[in-house]
Amino acid sequence: MSDHANGSMDDLFRDELKLPAYGDEIKDQHLKIEEWDSLRQSACQTAAGRALWKHAVNDPLAEVLAGEAHLRSFHEKMRKDQKNNAREISGVILAVRSLWFDSKLEAAVNSFTGGAAQVVLLGAGMDARSYRLTFLSKSDVFEVDFPDVLQVKHALIKATMDATDGHYQVKITAKSLTRVAADIRNDDWLEKLQLSGYNPERNTVWILEGILYYLPHSNAMKVLKIIAEKCSHTNTVLLADFMNQPTTTLSSSTYQFYSDWPEQLLPTLGFTDVKLSQIGDPDANFGLMHDPLNLFNKLRSLPRSVQIHPEDGTPCRRLYLVQASGSPNQTRSQ
Ligand SMILES: C[S@@+](CC[C@H](N)C(=O)[O-])C[C@H]1O[C@@H](n2cnc3c(N)ncnc32)[C@H](O)[C@@H]1O
Repeated sequence: MSDHANGSMDDLFRDELKLPAYGDEIKDQHLKIEEWDSLRQSACQTAAGRALWKHAVNDPLAEVLAGEAHLRSFHEKMRKDQKNNAREISGVILAVRSLWFDSKLEAAVNSFTGGAAQVVLLGAGMDARSYRLTFLSKSDVFEVDFPDVLQVKHALIKATMDATDGHYQVKITAKSLTRVAADIRNDDWLEKLQLSGYNPERNTVWILEGILYYLPHSNAMKVLKIIAEKCSHTNTVLLADFMNQPTTTLSSSTYQFYSDWPEQLLPTLGFTDVKLSQIGDPDANFGLMHDPLNLFNKLRSLPRSVQIHPEDGTPCRRLYLVQASGSPNQTRSQ
């Protein structure tokens, strides 16, 4: 890991953002992104975070997938944070989250015989794991999102691949990649996934990164139940992040589903083994959380039942990183 990733951010974000001169096709797609609603644009915000934290997260496609507008506004926030000597630079949470999902996904895939699995990303957005993680070479990946998000993603990646002067050679590192256009609030998304080749009998890792809290409570619970039911058919791993209730108050019109105790909720749905991490925990800091007084480390020192910080009266906003699994043997012995 670089010096920057180890905490000394130096002049990383003080300079102007330098972007390549994009061709017309990429510019057109970036304009389409600017027309989207905030739900769809959240895909590009998280990609911008990964692109600007490239000293920590290796995601070369994130820049083009984020689009110019999101990169510029995210970069501006980071510059301000750095100028104000903020204890947390914007986007650190996205970098840690990404690295946590990468590491747990690798462990899950490798736990299956021959390292072969299906990997289903719900609300995949501009995730480029199928192009950047070599340990997916024996895995079939399915990306589920709204049709317009997947169309723009496809067009941006194709245009990047076609660019003759591309400094980055883009190729798929997964065994296969299938995009499935679906709204996971609707009842037909699982059927669409199956029609696209997903096999409910095969070992599967489900990635729900940055998606559950955008769903109404009943839809989120339904999605979790559908995944939990798979535990009785095959080895199933769920990787997901959960907001606690105070976090949803950041934007009550945007954030809906929450769970204060996901490790209690998930076993009631059928998962047998649940592990929860908080940002900053030993398996969720990746050398990016040195300051003991940063927001995340301060929260970790408080019991999770505390909802208002006793020192400054602020809401205890937490993001839980959760790994849950189940298999037919475990389910039967319950
Ligand atoms: C915050 S982004 C996260 C994207 C990606 N998982 C990541 O971490 O970069 C949320 C994504 O969920 C998608 N999404 C939100 N609601 C959805 C729904 N009901 N059905 C399908 N996708 C949805 C959005 O389009 C967006 O791409």
